[in-house]
Amino acid sequence: MNIQASIRALKAERNAAILAHNYQTMDVQEVGDHVGDSLYLARVASRLEEKVILLAGVRFMAETASVLCPEKTIIIPDLEAGCSLAGMIKSREIRAWKDKHSDGGGVAYVNTTAEVKAESDICCTSANACQVVSSLPENARILFVPDYSLGLYVQRKTGRKLDLWPGFCHVHADITGDVIREQKRLHPEARVLMHPECGCMSDSMDLADEVLSTSGMLKACERSTDKEFIIATENGMVEQLRAAHPDKVFHPVGEWAVCEYMKLHNLEKILSSLKNLEFVVKVPGDIAERARRPIERMLALS
Ligand code: 13P
Ligand code: SF4
Repeated sequence: MNIQASIRALKAERNAAILAHNYQTMDVQEVGDHVGDSLYLARVASRLEEKVILLAGVRFMAETASVLCPEKTIIIPDLEAGCSLAGMIKSREIRAWKDKHSDGGGVAYVNTTAEVKAESDICCTSANACQVVSSLPENARILFVPDYSLGLYVQRKTGRKLDLWPGFCHVHADITGDVIREQKRLHPEARVLMHPECGCMSDSMDLADEVLSTSGMLKACERSTDKEFIIATENGMVEQLRAAHPDKVFHPVGEWAVCEYMKLHNLEKILSSLKNLEFVVKVPGDIAERARRPIERMLALS
């Protein structure tokens, strides 16, 4: 039996579902029951029947599943799969802002720890950040954490003034205006699809033809008649898009655009994770209780 078949057999035996993020390598995505962006994975986790959820993604995604499904066993194949962006804000920093602005509200990007979510009023992902911010009362003072680039983008799209936290993802921060201009020079016919975490948001947002979540990029390529694209995000997306559209051409922004945290998972670790039911991610009850509300508030929006 090959390793993918062994994983599928063990998955059934364990009554487990595998949730894989779009940045996972294709062999990992192939054993996934559900593959998508962080919004989709949170939605799916909240309504799964299986008793065990294996999260082939980063730790905050496993925490979100733990918060939404406290009765299930959530496992992640490699505990080191963190997120540089999620480490850039602490719960005490949100509390300090709220102490100063008692009438204000905190919007936490899902790329945060459960402790940070617990101090926030509502969560958002790259797919729904504008919708989330627009849903808040017009005159509310809003702290947006932790991604500065996404916050800038949301400000521009919604016209709302936000208090922006200076956080960034180490992969997307390097996707600057100069990087995109160079790709456009090399591929003048290509359509630019950009993730809102990209560093070039503070240079020019007009370099993108569309600003999208990872799953948004997949949908955009499905509906577009264009044949050539520059994919401004982590390179796992390029791999997935090439597999889905062999007739189209996809240019990465550079071979360096790789999230080493996402890439910690592989088939061997997934098999071992299912065998040993490790590594368990369990958000403590009191934090999970408080983090659930902002996540559910977001999920209720659409
Ligand atoms: P998506 O929600 O668009 O999948 O993005 C998650 C992420 O970590 C981007 O770096
Ligand atoms: Fe976090 Fe960046 Fe990796 Fe996304 S690409 S999981 S934001 S470190």
